[in-house]
Amino acid sequence: MKILAIETSCDETACAILKDGEKILTNLVASQEELHRRYGGIVPELASRKHMEVILPLTQEALERANLGLEEIDAVCVTNGPGLIGSLVIGVSFAKALAYGRKIPLIACDHINAHILAVFLEKEKPPFPFVALVVSGGHTALFWVKDYLEFYLLGQTRDDAAGEAFDKVAKLLGLGYPGGRIISRLAEEGNPDLIPLPRPMLDKPGFDFSFSGLKTAVVNYVNDLKLKGLSVPIHDLCAAFEKAVVEVLKEKAVAALLATNCQHLVLAGGVAANKRLRETLKHEAQKRNFKLYLPSPEFCTDNAAMIAVCGYHKYLRGEFASLDLDVYARANF
Ligand code: KG4
Ligand code: ZN
Repeated sequence: MKILAIETSCDETACAILKDGEKILTNLVASQEELHRRYGGIVPELASRKHMEVILPLTQEALERANLGLEEIDAVCVTNGPGLIGSLVIGVSFAKALAYGRKIPLIACDHINAHILAVFLEKEKPPFPFVALVVSGGHTALFWVKDYLEFYLLGQTRDDAAGEAFDKVAKLLGLGYPGGRIISRLAEEGNPDLIPLPRPMLDKPGFDFSFSGLKTAVVNYVNDLKLKGLSVPIHDLCAAFEKAVVEVLKEKAVAALLATNCQHLVLAGGVAANKRLRETLKHEAQKRNFKLYLPSPEFCTDNAAMIAVCGYHKYLRGEFASLDLDVYARANF
């Protein structure tokens, strides 16, 4: 069974072909980083236009690399939300055309559901139920995951997502876009314990997060130094910021495991590519005796292989979409 997956929810055009739910035949990602860099963030209109330009050649290349003709594809699945509406519409319209033209099923996938399922592309797969920590540019949330397509929200950010905070702090420090990877690289050469930053929400029960206050603490720290005519210790500040984010994520994830009496934690989303977060959770897993499942970085950031996994499980259940499939901007959990 071969499924072709399309992902265009944000600033990556991605196409993957998956065989029998786990064998990746192709997994292509065309990043728009270059296009948006000079604006210091994603410009939605430009993102949609780029998706439109890239999606057909990218899909053709995916088929070529897998040595397949379109007639050998059994179903087409596509992200229809959450994300940028203009971007989603391009992927969904394209997928509809393929499904209609080939008379094959069309399957709609939720982007967050797919992030949670990225771990199933790895050899070691978690047993259900597990707790998933999804940390991306648009979302930061903890879920109790009962099955491939059944998951319940335990808590989420009340303001900025973790990745968004990374990106905003990077912009503030004039480090460029996208900020997560840049901050993480600079942090490696800094001391995380020199600049005191808050650990938002750790003093509160529950599993919600908040990162905008942390971002403001960085702004205030920088402004204060500037007023005094002092230079900003970029490496130490990046390290301190990264450590603060990671500690909050770790503490809330551990609390969620304890509250649900679960021994399996899955990490997902773009920020899951962060080295400090991965190492900290590995260490915590050893200390507290829970099992940690980490998708490789290429499956953490946006990709279509994870969409294909989600699509596959919907295919098995006969959950098909009709040609009037719509898109949605905000998460519906
Ligand atoms: O999941 P993703 O690719 O797209 C969304 O669905 O949002 O996540 C992108 C986010 C961006 O905010 C980016 O800065 C962050 O993930 N990110 C990182 C790292 N790599 C990507 N954040 C921290 N450390 C990283 N190594
Ligand atoms: Zn994502």
